[in-house]
Amino acid sequence: MATIDYTSDVSALTPESLEGFFVGWPQRPSGETLLRLLSASTHRVLALDSSSGKCVGYVTALSDGVLFGYVSSLEVLPEYQGEGIGQELMARMMSCLSDLYAIDLVCDEEVQPFYERCGLKKCFAMVARRPERIIQ
Ligand SMILES: CC(C)(COP(=O)(O)OP(=O)(O)OC[C@H]1O[C@@H](n2cnc3c(N)ncnc32)[C@H](O)[C@@H]1OP(=O)(O)O)[C@@H](O)C(=O)NCCC(=O)NCCS
Repeated sequence: MATIDYTSDVSALTPESLEGFFVGWPQRPSGETLLRLLSASTHRVLALDSSSGKCVGYVTALSDGVLFGYVSSLEVLPEYQGEGIGQELMARMMSCLSDLYAIDLVCDEEVQPFYERCGLKKCFAMVARRPERIIQ
């Protein structure tokens, strides 16, 4: 099992170190796009493999800093899944957002058990999705 460092610092990241994410997306955003996304998010936690420095997982959130926070993305590279990294990323993000009234996220039904373990409850959501707007 890999040793993982957790950080919110994106300064050492390169687009090349962020390849391999967005598994299953019809058009996969590049490492460069992911770096933009991480940098623009109000909150982020990265999981880095300590032996290589490679980013193997991340969670991002957007918040008004007053009442509301939205966990916008979470992913762990397939070869690192099942090692507790996703749960640790969420625990750290929940801690970052602990002052807020509401922490929301949208997920597929199959991932709900994972988020219930993270302390979240099922809810209804309304969304818009525009595949033609995905930046690669
Ligand atoms: C969902 C995801 C982030 C979980 O990360 P992970 O590092 O594999 O999860 P962990 O190893 O921390 O799992 C923690 C626990 O949740 C469980 N779990 C993980 N993924 C699960 C899933 N999809 N459904 C149900 N339970 C799940 C694990 O079995 C584990 O339970 P255990 O402690 O009894 O072994 C990861 O599978 C992933 O990146 N998936 C693809 C992207 C995605 O779906 N992101 C969420 C978008 S909303």
